[in-house]
Amino acid sequence: MRVYVLNGPNLGRLGIRQPEVYGATSYADLVANCQATGKELGLDVEVRQTDAEAELIGWLHQAADEEAGVVLNPAAWSHYSYAVRDACAMLRGPLVEVHISNIHAREEFRHHSVVSAVATGVICGLGVDGYRLALLHLAGLRDRSAR
Ligand code: DQA
Repeated sequence: MRVYVLNGPNLGRLGIRQPEVYGATSYADLVANCQATGKELGLDVEVRQTDAEAELIGWLHQAADEEAGVVLNPAAWSHYSYAVRDACAMLRGPLVEVHISNIHAREEFRHHSVVSAVATGVICGLGVDGYRLALLHLAGLRDRSAR
């Protein structure tokens, strides 16, 4: 199963960016962890990050065309991008939305994600473990659909 792990703006600075909120894991470590988890679970994982909304939307279109699974941390776009939400709504595989921090325990503007209503499920507040849990869920779906 093909899985895109897509990350929105500022997530390329993980490890440097507000470590008290987002933890000490660097973006390079996150990529390596997701690839290792993919290998362990037999998922074909591709990890990407962009600060450009159009680029993310293009990747979502590609995932839709390929009927791939998606793990998406839309970062700040979660809170206001109807364009990202609309692209997510076109996906044909499962979508797990991940937030490293607990967005509900933070500033009010972070409490709502416009993406969540079109996601299969949402993981937030579990740090970078959320990505691993999302991949485990997708592998479970694959295994159940193979039966
Ligand atoms: C985030 C939470 C968002 O509110 C924020 O804009 C981010 C990261 C998270 O992973 O906790 O950039 O999505």
